[in-house]
Amino acid sequence: RDGYEYEFIGKIVEHVSKKINRVALPVADYPVGLEPRMLEINSLLDAGSDDEVKMIGIHGIGGIGKTTLSIAVYNLIADQFEALCFLENVRENSNKHGLQHLQKILLSETLGEKKIKLSSVKQGISIIKHRLQQKKVLLILDDVDKIEQLEALVGGSDWLGSGSRVIITSRDKHLFESHGVNRTYELNVLDEKEALQLLTWKAFKAEKFHPSYLDVMKRVVAYASGLPLALTVMGSNLFGKNIQEWESALHRYEIIPNKEIQNILKVSFDALEEDEQSVFLDIACFYTGT
Ligand SMILES: Nc1ncnc2c1ncn2[C@@H]1O[C@H](COP(=O)(O)OP(=O)(O)OP(=O)(O)O)[C@@H](O)[C@H]1O
Ligand SMILES: [Mg+2]
Repeated sequence: RDGYEYEFIGKIVEHVSKKINRVALPVADYPVGLEPRMLEINSLLDAGSDDEVKMIGIHGIGGIGKTTLSIAVYNLIADQFEALCFLENVRENSNKHGLQHLQKILLSETLGEKKIKLSSVKQGISIIKHRLQQKKVLLILDDVDKIEQLEALVGGSDWLGSGSRVIITSRDKHLFESHGVNRTYELNVLDEKEALQLLTWKAFKAEKFHPSYLDVMKRVVAYASGLPLALTVMGSNLFGKNIQEWESALHRYEIIPNKEIQNILKVSFDALEEDEQSVFLDIACFYTGT
């Protein structure tokens, strides 16, 4: 009986210390419209059922908020899992550092071991399967663009313990089909009210704006077509500017014959400060074709 009690207390200590040590990932300084979208993801995840492993896919164009939404969902449900891993920028990091590097991060995050040595992707696969099969894992694979990435990190639902959940985000929904991920969620642009809210915050650092800005605000919102990235970049660019300056910025946007967001963003991008530019490049590297 004592042995059982020890084990039980040990489990409680482990659980509590995990909760205390776990720091929520930063979502966005002013999140808009996340709640209803999180609820939809949550029902797709069906987190209550513990006997299965479920994989879901979130897809949508660049800058629409896939990473933001998946961070919010991660923060919401992380407590229900034994092991966690949020693998960010899979596309970029697998290009830069290779798949083995991502496998190492996955293993060290979920197992809490620092020094993991792998000699090949194949070996990585067999270790992941072997070590994670018994664990209830929450795994986020953010911004995946190739099937090889999925095959190296979570080739099948039998790789993880029952109750595990995998959230994959991608700009390409076909990736999910080819990997047998049949629960998918298409992230849509913000509606007009949400877009206005986000722009207000970015452009005024406040919840409300002076009514004299209503016309220019509406024009920017129409221009950004509900894309959070565009609203963020344009809003930050317009921060602290008077209506004449808004007008001239809008004029620059609107004379671009091709009204694609890419072009709008290029205009605002040039006007951003250098450090802001690098942040922007990180989130929007697809616009520059890298
Ligand atoms: N719901 C939201 N509320 C507030 N800001 C948001 C929201 N969604 C996204 N953003 C902001 O928009 C920008 C782009 O979002 P995010 O990086 O999540 O897009 P993404 O779909 O992951 O893009 P990519 O395909 O390039 O990875 C970020 O600066 C983010 O903070
Ligand atoms: Mg992203």
